[in-house]
Amino acid sequence: MALNWVEIDLAALRHNFQQAKDRISKDTAILAVVKSDAYGHGMVPVARELAAMGARFFGVSKFWEAMALRDAHITQPILVLVGIEAQDCEDAIRLGIRPALYRLDHAQRLNDTARKLQTRAKVHVKVDTGMGRLGVPLSELESFLKGLGGFEHLEVEGVFSHFATADERDKHYSALQMERFSRALDLFRRHRVPFTYAHMANSAGTLDLPGAHHQLVRPGIMLYGSPPSHELHHPAHLKPVMSLKARVVQVKQVPQGHPIGYGRTFTAPQDMRLATVPVGYDDGLPRLLSNKGSVLIRGQRAPIVGRVSMNMITVDVSAIAEVREDDEVVVLGSQGSERITADEIAALCGTISYEIYCNVGKNPQRLFVNASAGLAS
Ligand SMILES: Cc1ncc(COP(=O)(O)O)c(C=O)c1O
Repeated sequence: MALNWVEIDLAALRHNFQQAKDRISKDTAILAVVKSDAYGHGMVPVARELAAMGARFFGVSKFWEAMALRDAHITQPILVLVGIEAQDCEDAIRLGIRPALYRLDHAQRLNDTARKLQTRAKVHVKVDTGMGRLGVPLSELESFLKGLGGFEHLEVEGVFSHFATADERDKHYSALQMERFSRALDLFRRHRVPFTYAHMANSAGTLDLPGAHHQLVRPGIMLYGSPPSHELHHPAHLKPVMSLKARVVQVKQVPQGHPIGYGRTFTAPQDMRLATVPVGYDDGLPRLLSNKGSVLIRGQRAPIVGRVSMNMITVDVSAIAEVREDDEVVVLGSQGSERITADEIAALCGTISYEIYCNVGKNPQRLFVNASAGLAS
């Protein structure tokens, strides 16, 4: 029996995908962002479910992630959001893996490889409309497009950009990015560079900015059941997909004045009943939850006392008299009518749900539940 494990609810994943689908028109498709092991949820089982639900594309950040999807017989086109390296051009072209393109030297090497293979390499050109992170700056787009004109073995399948603040209540900056993106698309048309998919909407754009949907949206976090922020004008009803669970390994009584954990940062203010739970920061539970967070046992909250250590925490169960060794503990997820969300944990630690999911998801003990009929996970 594992001391702790991650549960992935594929029915919740399907529900969330449907929520995204319900927000877009029939002329818009979905590129499901499954990078970073589907935000820690398990890229292959997640992609299988979403392919069956109608995801048109998948988005990853690294080439090897795209190869892992191909090895798992996922056949949808895959966009590598950060682009690819020289040695991967041939496999990308052969396997329908589309690189993000933002450099002319990369265009040259893809074009050369495609010529050698007597085919055309499909690419998605990334334009920086104000995120300032990756993409051809708008001011350089014209000369970039002139440069692209010489590459007969490239096909611009997509043109895309990324929002910096779509999850904020104030949409002024997003509106400016949308307007710049329209100008970028006009430049493509003017330079007679045809494309099939324009795309810029992440989860926040999918939910809050219908004017940014174009032919493709790129939701990530909403598929995993967390809102991109709590400032959205049109939040969706989402179901968390990931839970982190464990079993109590020890229950004990400590007297008033007894110190707990590394650094003795907690001292029992009275006689207390404590439970030791085998999860720690190696399991993705942030050390910042020391003396702050809580877990669920028998449907009730038990506060973390003392420091989170690498593989264990101690929780106060004085108020939950019936707690026994081997009881199930929910560290992330729901039990009875109580729920601990990634957002709650993230808020206590000054971070975002995305980071919590990525870290908790590194747990190799992962259990997939509620797979669709016919889809083995
Ligand atoms: C280029 C790109 N598109 C889409 C997404 C999905 O964003 P979100 O998870 O906020 O929906 C990401 C995630 O970081 C991204 O980098």
